[in-house]
Amino acid sequence: MNQIDLNDRVAVVTGGSRGIGKAIVERLHRSGAHCYIWDCDLQAAESWIKELKGPGAIKLVQVDLADSSSIDRARDWTIEQAGHVDIVVNNAGIAGVSKPLWECSIQEWKEVIDLDLMAVFLVCRALVPGMLDREFGRIINIASIAGKEGNPNASHYSAAKAGVIGLTKSLGKELSGSMIRVNCVAPAVIQTDILKQVSQEHIDYMVSKIPMQRVGQPEEVAALVAWLASNECSFSTGAVFDISGGRATY
Ligand SMILES: NC(=O)c1ccc[n+]([C@@H]2O[C@H](COP(=O)([O-])OP(=O)(O)OC[C@H]3O[C@@H](n4cnc5c(N)ncnc54)[C@H](O)[C@@H]3O)[C@@H](O)[C@H]2O)c1
Repeated sequence: MNQIDLNDRVAVVTGGSRGIGKAIVERLHRSGAHCYIWDCDLQAAESWIKELKGPGAIKLVQVDLADSSSIDRARDWTIEQAGHVDIVVNNAGIAGVSKPLWECSIQEWKEVIDLDLMAVFLVCRALVPGMLDREFGRIINIASIAGKEGNPNASHYSAAKAGVIGLTKSLGKELSGSMIRVNCVAPAVIQTDILKQVSQEHIDYMVSKIPMQRVGQPEEVAALVAWLASNECSFSTGAVFDISGGRATY
């Protein structure tokens, strides 16, 4: 079987300790990439990374993505170890509280915006200059169908993910003259721990909107990300790739 070739590519995956990020690390590593997991909870990754059999290195990097100086330290350490970064997957995110907008405190709103949107800006800002120097890069941002449609009781999350889509479109155009491609992925509901943060009513609402009437699996998202990270993704940039069991219609 032809594999997506990421041999010797250096990839940073934020929030790579579990869930969709874990599946992305497993998939990129299987294709030959060296993977740097940037996460605030590394304990979750310590056991499963030992099982990986790919040729590339796997390194764990402690980082709080809500803190710009922590991101800059992670960038410096990663470059010191790997020399450069080819691929960045901005995957870390939180769902935040399920509440109508007018019941959210400023802190509850800000917490989601800081991680789900601001950190994507900070990580791109930290890593794009090195990609420009090397004239190669693949940036994949994990947005959400919520950013296209807006989910009720998730105004902070929907606004942040809409922001990620806008950021991706802008940055894709800014870098279109280079060999750096910037794209985002908009999943509908995917089976991970993030679902523990939201009510069953909210999950039922999301599944009811999916024509396939099921949740997606992290590996299905990882397969799309692996292609977006590869040389074969050459003529797409600033684009939104839906992975929603038929929910997205535009
Ligand atoms: N699961 C879904 O249904 C779904 C649907 C659409 C989009 N998404 C998006 O996919 C991405 C991954 O979601 P998931 O379901 O795998 O989530 P998850 O909760 O399973 O994993 C999130 C990871 O991010 C890390 N993280 C959280 N805060 C951090 C911080 N401040 N600094 C560093 N790392 C931090 C966590 O430790 C964890 O490893 C998120 O951006 C999410 O919004 C998920």
